[in-house]
Amino acid sequence: MSPARIRIAPSLLAADFARLGEEARAVAAAGADWLHLDIMDGHFVPNISYGPVVVAALRQHCAIPFDVHLMIAPADPYLEGFAKAGADLISVHPEAGPHLHRTLQTIRGLGKRAGVVLNPATSVAAVENVLDLCDLILVMSVNPGFGGQSFLDSQLPKIAALRRMIDQSGREIALQVDGGVTAATAPRCIAAGADVLVAGTAVFGAPDYAAAIAALRGEGGGR
Ligand code: DX5
Ligand code: ZN
Repeated sequence: MSPARIRIAPSLLAADFARLGEEARAVAAAGADWLHLDIMDGHFVPNISYGPVVVAALRQHCAIPFDVHLMIAPADPYLEGFAKAGADLISVHPEAGPHLHRTLQTIRGLGKRAGVVLNPATSVAAVENVLDLCDLILVMSVNPGFGGQSFLDSQLPKIAALRRMIDQSGREIALQVDGGVTAATAPRCIAAGADVLVAGTAVFGAPDYAAAIAALRGEGGGR
């Protein structure tokens, strides 16, 4: 088990899209560690969100790390655009391109931290041979594309297996969970070994962002 402090990355997908800058500032002020930005192309996933222009505009509003989750295929032609827009971490799905190793090399070559995202049906084997290029592994606990879905308990053993793999590697790799994370499901993710929790609805759907973030971390009177 990692003794690391649990970091919370609110997903802006559940924010008020007419007030994105204000929403980004509000979660940063409420104690968010990273801002999770879901990029969807209507092709790799059946939904469209926003692109690098919006990420760049948000950069003016908040200083916490931008955690960019690319749900686009191909991803390679857009990596530089997201790096220039202000991403700090860029995560890709192995299914989004033919050469995951090269994609991770490109992200790191742009001076950014690189992540690999595992869909619910994707095995840990998809990442085990590129651990040396990983700064983050993201376990999807829903099928990507939409916020507000129910957490898939079937992904907990995968989180535990990745925790073992990361600890054995001796590398500092964040283990992130995304989808259906709430104050009720967060403790299961943390117990399995996750150290970064993405939450959209559980933060932006709450009346008090700071209380919601503290509850996800297991602090401050949350469930
Ligand atoms: C889904 C996205 C998630 C989503 C999570 O494809 O990757 O980041 O915003 O939303 P909640 O927390 O509402 O499940
Ligand atoms: Zn996401």
